[in-house]
Amino acid sequence: MIQGSPYLRIPQRRPEPERGSMAPAPRKEGVVVIGAGGHAKVVISTLTARGFSIAGVLDDDDTKWGMDAHGTRVSRIERERGGSGIIGIGDNAQRRDMARALSFEWRTVVHPSAFVHPSAKLGRGTVVFAGAVVQPDAVIGDHVIVNTGATVDHDCIIDDYAHLAPGVHLAGSVHVGEGAFLGIGSVAIAGVRIGRWSTLGAGAVAIRDLADGVVAVGVPARARRTKKSHREDREDGGDSRS
Ligand SMILES: CC(C)(COP(=O)(O)OP(=O)(O)OC[C@H]1O[C@@H](n2cnc3c(N)ncnc32)[C@H](O)[C@@H]1OP(=O)(O)O)[C@@H](O)C(=O)NCCC(=O)NCCS
Repeated sequence: MIQGSPYLRIPQRRPEPERGSMAPAPRKEGVVVIGAGGHAKVVISTLTARGFSIAGVLDDDDTKWGMDAHGTRVSRIERERGGSGIIGIGDNAQRRDMARALSFEWRTVVHPSAFVHPSAKLGRGTVVFAGAVVQPDAVIGDHVIVNTGATVDHDCIIDDYAHLAPGVHLAGSVHVGEGAFLGIGSVAIAGVRIGRWSTLGAGAVAIRDLADGVVAVGVPARARRTKKSHREDREDGGDSRS
């Protein structure tokens, strides 16, 4: 929730001599990653670039148990387990359900090549991937994905469980509702509101507000249909990457 969440304020970075070479910083605490699919790979690479070690990779899918995930064996999700964790699941509704079901201390991670202005706020469990930019006074909620190369301009508000796919560009003061998914390369002009659990298709340009729970595509973006439920949160209409 935006109200009352213990947002992390990302401090002004001190110069990091190794940053240019992308060499990992000294090892920090171990973080458990929930999910062992494609999105988790990028979460793991972001954590390791930040110097975290991977304390475990857990997934409910028993076909993945025992598989190698960047040097860690995938095992079943232990619901009683605590400690430091992050959810590596791209699907917004699944990520929300995991966040509610598990009691990890959720980590927020920003890739060293991303820029987050010191006045921006990031919620718990939120990830900011390589090359992304978050500008002044943006407020980003819990368990949000700011994917590779996405940009979030000044005063944007991104609610919990939203996902900005790679290359999304948001102008100033855009409001992205809870659980909304903005497809790869989509754009929203200044001040637009994207409704809760709505999907903006790949390459779409939102020039007006979108209602809650719709799928909108095209330039300019127009709603093609209303979702049957807010749980219908697939990123591409069928591929449920976890
Ligand atoms: C918008 C989207 C969710 C729609 O998925 P869907 O409901 O399964 O839709 P369909 O593939 O059945 O297509 C329905 C119609 O919308 C059109 N359409 C779908 N996506 C479109 C897009 N991004 N732009 C323009 N038109 C699109 C299709 O051509 C089709 O048109 P038609 O009915 O005239 O033939 C999906 O196409 C999309 O853009 N996903 C984004 C995926 C992504 O960015 N993933 C990144 C993960 S990190």
